[in-house]
Amino acid sequence: MNTLFGVILPYCAIAIFILGMLYRVIKWGRSAVPFRIPTTCGQEKSLPWIKASPLDNPYDNRSVVGRMLLEILIFRSLWRNTRTEVKPERQKLIYGGNKFLWLFGLLFHWSLLIILVRHLRLFIEPVPWALKTLEDLDGAIEILIPTLFLTDIAILLALTYLFLRRVAFPQIRYISLPADYFALLLLLGVATTGVCLRIFFHTDVVAVKELAMSVLRFDPKAPEGISWLFYCHLTMVSALLAYFPFSKMVHMGGIFFSPTRNLANNNRAKRHVNPWDYPVKVHPYHEYEDEFRKLMKGAGLPVEKE
Ligand code: HEM
Repeated sequence: MNTLFGVILPYCAIAIFILGMLYRVIKWGRSAVPFRIPTTCGQEKSLPWIKASPLDNPYDNRSVVGRMLLEILIFRSLWRNTRTEVKPERQKLIYGGNKFLWLFGLLFHWSLLIILVRHLRLFIEPVPWALKTLEDLDGAIEILIPTLFLTDIAILLALTYLFLRRVAFPQIRYISLPADYFALLLLLGVATTGVCLRIFFHTDVVAVKELAMSVLRFDPKAPEGISWLFYCHLTMVSALLAYFPFSKMVHMGGIFFSPTRNLANNNRAKRHVNPWDYPVKVHPYHEYEDEFRKLMKGAGLPVEKE
């Protein structure tokens, strides 16, 4: 069983993840993008005396990179998230700001990243000082023994909010699919088993490290002394890895390939010819008139050339 859950399943999951991501990236790369379709929400570069908004309407690659970075690092467009509701007492549609999705979304993604980076200590020997410093910073507020990391609290809080939001708000429940709940529950499962491993049901972390490094060296050994809870954690991680390329979570890679995000809006300044255009036989008006001039004149229709 140790070999099945500690070696075979993770290897299969890693293989599916790598092949799945390659498939997705190649498919995105081969998709036709014949037109410039960036989403814009600001003044485009125009006359010198009209103030342009390069981050909302990027004109060149530098602005595109700036917009992408702000989008990826701080979810800039989500900051403008709005909530629409009808106030019965006023009989009016009201648009209000809603920053919770932005806040908890950001909290979740950053905590996940930091947790994954911290996990590298299970795969690297000796552990680099940068990783130790990150761990010290994350555990600076010593809650419980062993220390519960700040990112552990943040990820559990954020995932719980993101899940409850889909359950509690009727409009969001209406547009939610089983896949939306499944991704959140899987992530919640991974984070909860991880926190339990750290705080309540300790496992032999040295043995886990031995397993992790042997898997990376392609010389897998599943040592004794690793708890069942760790295998639950690892099995959920394997499921997440295998599911990732085929799920909505693949937006992690997709954002870089999104033509609404990665193109500069210079349509009016530069002529972009569709690279897939092939020569089309056309029949312009002057040829049409040449062909039918006699008949047109006979029918009393005006012609351009007598
Ligand atoms: C998507 C991937 C993963 C996520 C989101 C995740 C999440 C977590 C979280 C939130 C914790 C609580 C403590 C902490 O934050 O360090 C944890 C602990 C732990 N995880 Fe993971 N994990 C992942 C992958 C893995 C993998 C691949 C392994 C094994 C190689 C692993 C082994 C462990 C162990 C041994 C602990 C307990 C650490 C301790 O007692 O200090 N995790 N995990």
